[in-house]
Amino acid sequence: HAETNEELYQRFTNLVSSWPCFPPVLSISVSQLYRHDEGWHSSLAPMVGTIVADACFTARPSDIVVATLPKSGTTWIKALLYSTVHLREHPVGSSDHPFNSLSPHECIKFFEYQLYTGNKIPDLDELPDPRIFATHAPFVSLPRSVLASGCKIVYVCRDPKDTLISLWSFVNKFRIRRGLEPLSVEATADFFCDGVTLFGPYWDHVLGYWSAHLAHPEQVLFFRYEEMRRDPEAHTRRLAEFVGCPFSLEEQEEGGAVDAIVKLCSFEHMISLQATMCGKTDAVIGAVDNSWFFRRGVVADWQNHLSLETARKIDAITEARFKGTGLLV
Ligand code: A3P
Repeated sequence: HAETNEELYQRFTNLVSSWPCFPPVLSISVSQLYRHDEGWHSSLAPMVGTIVADACFTARPSDIVVATLPKSGTTWIKALLYSTVHLREHPVGSSDHPFNSLSPHECIKFFEYQLYTGNKIPDLDELPDPRIFATHAPFVSLPRSVLASGCKIVYVCRDPKDTLISLWSFVNKFRIRRGLEPLSVEATADFFCDGVTLFGPYWDHVLGYWSAHLAHPEQVLFFRYEEMRRDPEAHTRRLAEFVGCPFSLEEQEEGGAVDAIVKLCSFEHMISLQATMCGKTDAVIGAVDNSWFFRRGVVADWQNHLSLETARKIDAITEARFKGTGLLV
């Protein structure tokens, strides 16, 4: 008989359950982290969701997929991409702009946290083009139809030390809510270096998308959070061109569209929105306060939290892993 959705999810849950797992005291997480066959880690439901998306998602060439490691600027790139692609229907500053009521995570949903969860296979066929999705999955575990379709992939990476500090703070919010002991910075850094972190090892994740970008620059865009911070206007223009929605000369010059989008999506503006202050986003890990996705939004905040020794340890791994790849800046 044809496999039901429940049976499909159960089959993949059994598979993931057969892989090595780390309890929350041995990883940066609130629940057990499993190690996927391809060498990356996540808790059970998002890992099952990733595998279900691979089995069931049908990509279109016009799709756009945002890929990131957690805490590397996902909320920001989602906001920039969504407001750019939908600029004509939702002019910046309109009173009914979606960001007034929805978080960027509700406007662009994750395969593994929001779409392929709860024994459901979503019907995504009716969504108008271009459909935009997001994932934290490493390149090797993207839905195979994403690669086959040739659709656009937008990747953002961030300095590992800042990613680590942001993750430490974020995971501790969940740990405190669950009544678990918060993780110390030192313990978090050790797990991070060992790769036992959400969708990590960090370095494998970045290298996977970097190689894909080098091999197919027209399919995989590669941004860095720090460079976006330095010149958000240039990155917004580049993003718009990459996804095939370039700003017209009029929009750029007279309307100041790029400037308006950058301001709309800025940390300072997003943090003041009602949707950020009061809203929650439903996900398989439970409802997440939208405000949790905003902390400081600066570069090199690690200097306020990491010892020099730990920073050097992380830098040494980065240098060893990224040497000769063109990734070291
Ligand atoms: P910090 O914890 O360093 O402040 P993600 O969106 O991938 O979960 O990443 C969250 C990080 O991006 C947090 O970093 C958060 O403050 C920062 N961030 C969120 N929105 C931002 C924005 N509009 N501009 C710049 N940084 C932003």
